Amino acid sequence: MPGTALRLLPAKPAHAAAVAQLVRIGLPASQHPRWDAARLARRIRSPNSALVLAVSDRYLTGAAVVDLLTDQAQLSLLVVHPQYRRIGVGSALLGWVETTASTAGLFTLQLKLEASNGAGRAFCFAHQFRERGRLPSFYADGTAAVRLVRDLRVNSEPA
Ligand SMILES: CC(C)(COP(=O)(O)OP(=O)(O)OC[C@H]1O[C@@H](n2cnc3c(N)ncnc32)[C@H](O)[C@@H]1OP(=O)(O)O)[C@@H](O)C(=O)NCCC(=O)NCCS
Repeated sequence: MPGTALRLLPAKPAHAAAVAQLVRIGLPASQHPRWDAARLARRIRSPNSALVLAVSDRYLTGAAVVDLLTDQAQLSLLVVHPQYRRIGVGSALLGWVETTASTAGLFTLQLKLEASNGAGRAFCFAHQFRERGRLPSFYADGTAAVRLVRDLRVNSEPA
């Protein structure tokens, strides 16, 4: 949907159910239990986490969760509605996450991704994440993850 007006908003607990629904649409089933409405609501209330929403023409089109740890930030969730991909929604959410982490004084953003997630890896490489190790059998179903890290002191415009 080129030209769609995009807004980024911090989530409130009342948004948790809608984000859980977006997760069910946009992530593989193996990820759904990690992001049910109750867990999302806890993340929204946590003082060390932030959940940002992408809203395009009143539709929830994406969401991201960042956890602010002692020495780094963790991008724990990033999902864009399948019908709104490749128009910059994910990049906008990532930009918000990066600004939040930098403002908190953190220089490193990391995430873990299913090793088979080609789109996720391409997105991360376009945003200057570097692969920093593979975690065999990381998920409950036995699949592997890769750990990706980005130095927030380096400009993040897509390559
Ligand atoms: C990965 C994801 C968040 C990307 O969101 P998006 O809004 O489509 O991303 P953007 O439009 O901002 O893409 C920015 C750049 O990333 C790269 N990219 C994104 N999706 C890609 C894909 N499927 N294949 C190849 N490159 C891709 C491209 O370089 C793209 O720039 P371009 O469209 O000008 O070529 C989205 O596909 C998604 O929700 N996937 C399922 C959840 C997931 O994998 N989450 C983990 C994310 S790290």
